[in-house]
Amino acid sequence: MSLKSIAVRSPATSANLGPGFDVFGIALSEPYDAVKVAKIEERGIEVTVGGKFSEGIPEKVEENSAGLAAKSLLTHFNIKEGVRIEVEKGVKPGMGLGSSAASAVAAVYALNKLFNLNLSRRELIMFSAQGERASAGSAHADNVSAALLGGFVIVKPHLYEAQSIEPPSNLALCVAVPEVKPPPKKTGVARSILPRSVSLIKAVHNTSMACWMVASLTKGDVSEFGRAMQDLVVEPRRAKMVPGYSEVKRLALEAGAAGVVISGAGPTMLAVVDKRAANPEDVAEAMRRGFESVGLASHCFVTTPGKGASII
Ligand code: HSE
Repeated sequence: MSLKSIAVRSPATSANLGPGFDVFGIALSEPYDAVKVAKIEERGIEVTVGGKFSEGIPEKVEENSAGLAAKSLLTHFNIKEGVRIEVEKGVKPGMGLGSSAASAVAAVYALNKLFNLNLSRRELIMFSAQGERASAGSAHADNVSAALLGGFVIVKPHLYEAQSIEPPSNLALCVAVPEVKPPPKKTGVARSILPRSVSLIKAVHNTSMACWMVASLTKGDVSEFGRAMQDLVVEPRRAKMVPGYSEVKRLALEAGAAGVVISGAGPTMLAVVDKRAANPEDVAEAMRRGFESVGLASHCFVTTPGKGASII
């Protein structure tokens, strides 16, 4: 019997993790988006957005990451049947937690099942990444790969290839989301301020740190993983866009975080903690105080690396 509708959940993600700009991503256990995709009589794509964080999210197909990803997939396969995509936003948009990626991955994952397409991992990533054009202006694949595969991912950006490593169980993630209103198309803005070229010395530094992170993770060494989360290329430019950046980082490190970075294009900050060495709740509270010290309220929580998209 052919399916008429399918519902998928897809997690929040944090990209870059310091030196891995557009290359590293990690899925979070929470929050997540839930997306229901149904075949309909009418032709074309309909998008509706509901849930806790629906405000301001466009329902126009070309402006919605799920709609845009779905359109690229359906056009590619010349599928004429109409579909309705109901997005339930659990991931707050514009905060650097892969909100657009969560919706796009869920839609592509659902369409793959609904139309029995048997897409490869590469195709799933490629179509999902098209959804990122809605907010970032480009089809970066780090958040979508993490949302699809779960765990810690390493991406070959222009080939849409990715592999995932399951993080060790002592890795905790502290997430600090400041209450600020991001500018429209924030990711695009945050990408436009990046350097067009980098010095050899910075390239060597970032390559070294990124490799160190991967080696440490495979050995289960969370402290070394976190200590290597140092980026000399992207984060120095973006730190200006995150009020309280220095304070949050300093206080989180003092509370025992192994490493602290801007999550994606910000303004959320992410700390990694070795649960055997420090209390993640203390780190989250330190991050809250960091934002508070510059007059900002924030939502700070502790989570763990999560699994990829799945049928609900
Ligand atoms: N790698 C992307 C960027 C992630 O930093 O622009 C955006 O969430």
